[in-house]
Amino acid sequence: MSTKKYNVGIIGYGWAATAHIDAINASKQAQVTAIYSSRPLDSAELSAKHGGSIKAYQTVDALLADPDIHIVDITSYPSQHSAQAIAAAQAGKHTILEKPMANSLEEVRAIVAAAEANGVKGCVCFELRFSGQMIATRALLAEGLLGDLHYGEVDYYHGIGPWYGQFRWNTGKKDGGSALLTAGCHALDCLLMCMPGEVESVSSFSTKSKSEIFAPYEYDTSSVTLVRFKNGAVGKCAAIVDCLQPYYLHTHLVGSQGSLLDDKFHSMKLKTDKAHWSKLSVQLADSGDVHDHPYQTQFQLFFDALDEGKDMPQTSFKEALRTFEVVFAADQSASAGGAVVKVG
Ligand SMILES: NC(=O)c1ccc[n+]([C@@H]2O[C@H](COP(=O)([O-])OP(=O)(O)OC[C@H]3O[C@@H](n4cnc5c(N)ncnc54)[C@H](O)[C@@H]3O)[C@@H](O)[C@H]2O)c1
Repeated sequence: MSTKKYNVGIIGYGWAATAHIDAINASKQAQVTAIYSSRPLDSAELSAKHGGSIKAYQTVDALLADPDIHIVDITSYPSQHSAQAIAAAQAGKHTILEKPMANSLEEVRAIVAAAEANGVKGCVCFELRFSGQMIATRALLAEGLLGDLHYGEVDYYHGIGPWYGQFRWNTGKKDGGSALLTAGCHALDCLLMCMPGEVESVSSFSTKSKSEIFAPYEYDTSSVTLVRFKNGAVGKCAAIVDCLQPYYLHTHLVGSQGSLLDDKFHSMKLKTDKAHWSKLSVQLADSGDVHDHPYQTQFQLFFDALDEGKDMPQTSFKEALRTFEVVFAADQSASAGGAVVKVG
């Protein structure tokens, strides 16, 4: 029996879904009550495994037609996201949507428009914004400890090779898309979170490792994007999925009162010693494992926002659209050899 306010139906039952289910069930207001998969699943087994009462569906339409489901959570292949998110909006369901929102800007815009037209709210899984590291970074910026930022770089290093479950579909252009779209979008999103103001233009270059390990990729697996902001500030985002090293989200922000490097900073405002970094005691976003990601914090905020009839803070569909506009402009630039592409 459902005991909490929101029933959630999961679309796509892969790796991300398992972390989402735990996070949703740990929230104050929501529980997973349905799962759609193209594979036949057993309702009793799903319920025993995840707790509560979970009904297995074998078509998305049947799940969306269930009036007891209030929210859907889309964790399917990226090429399926837009059709499923639009159908969910038309069925009147609020939606949690894994990144990338979709594989083209037209599709992302259509998702945002469908949600608006049907009066439903969205939450995109840019969950790194809710990591201890990024919450502390935001707080530091809000206090003005770095002054006005004129330079920022947030880079994503995560080797997505055969050891990683997604490799079986991520290597294809259809679902992987680009280094920035499939994974680096997290870093670009964090860069846009930190830097004030709108993006004016981007220029991007891409390449690929010579390692045989990454040979199956149909697209360039390393890219670097330069970002010019309308206020004159500049930024950089590297998206590297063909590296052989530990996961690393590199963050370096430079402002008129100091700098931040990952979990270290110097601030003139605090009169710290410029010759040494001061340390923030926070958990770094240093893992690609979905079970280490702050989905619970993010989903709790989404359910709280729904309670109040408000948009999701930080990662609403509209806010995430802003990031994907830059992602797709950067990929357009990379395929044109680095040509400057205007954004918006
Ligand atoms: N926000 C993040 O940090 C993060 C992390 C991981 C994944 N994701 C996103 O989540 C989505 C799903 O990724 P994932 O890692 O869960 O991928 P996955 O390969 O585990 O699952 C992807 C899809 O494949 C299906 N699937 C899985 N195993 C299958 C099998 N044996 N036979 C048939 N279908 C199968 C799943 O039901 C799902 O629809 C993607 O959009 C991905 O980009 C985001």
